[in-house]
Amino acid sequence: MYNVILVILLTIIVFFTGKLIKHKSLYPFMPFRYDFRKRRDTFLRALELLSNIKAKIIIETGTSREGLRGSKSQGAASIVFGKWAKENDAILHTVDISEESIKVSQMEVEAQKLDTNVFLHLSDSVQYLANFGDKVDFLYLDSYDYSEEVEVQRLSQEHHLKEFKAIEKQLHKNSIVLIDDCDLPGGGKGKSVIAYMIIQGWKILMKEYQVLLLHKDSSYFSKENNISKS
Ligand SMILES: C[S@@+](CC[C@H](N)C(=O)[O-])C[C@H]1O[C@@H](n2cnc3c(N)ncnc32)[C@H](O)[C@@H]1O
Repeated sequence: MYNVILVILLTIIVFFTGKLIKHKSLYPFMPFRYDFRKRRDTFLRALELLSNIKAKIIIETGTSREGLRGSKSQGAASIVFGKWAKENDAILHTVDISEESIKVSQMEVEAQKLDTNVFLHLSDSVQYLANFGDKVDFLYLDSYDYSEEVEVQRLSQEHHLKEFKAIEKQLHKNSIVLIDDCDLPGGGKGKSVIAYMIIQGWKILMKEYQVLLLHKDSSYFSKENNISKS
């Protein structure tokens, strides 16, 4: 009997330890319970870079249609970077083609009291970016859903490339670009856009599930830079 209880206890301990090891929170920036899993480290690095360049304008393509509930599956970037924007007197514009996604995201933005700094736009992202007039400090590309279908993959990759080309002229030497859903069969959302960016002088800073890029002329790479490389 004693042995059975011991085995059950050990199983429970192993189970919860495994869960805790896999759990990747952004604590203390976000409450510990939210698991950002495969995006945690790139989010952390992006947040650090945002502070270093004192970002003021952030654009996200593809809004957080599941709110913070989607931290593990979708990323919940509208809330994460929206919170950073609020705390740092910046603005996050998040654009989505789906009314339903905008509705859910708007509700979450309001619930988190981020509506002073997060603005949602119902539009095709390429169209929205092509008409954007201000300089962009941080560009987060995460719209056209990727899938296992080769044709959808091609369309998604093409769309993310079009997004970048549409906003390229509004980026500056210290802009930060983060692309979601890259480490996937077929090359992910970033395949075409990253190849194009590299030709245009962008360098990969982190390559995980997401890819984080800075321009080669960024102060980050210069000897006398004042951007932390921690
Ligand atoms: C993966 S979700 C975005 C997740 C969000 N970035 C997050 O961190 O939670 C992709 C979103 O892109 C939107 N989308 C798809 N095609 C689009 C397009 N052409 N223009 C703008 N948004 C688009 C979808 O409606 C969907 O809400």
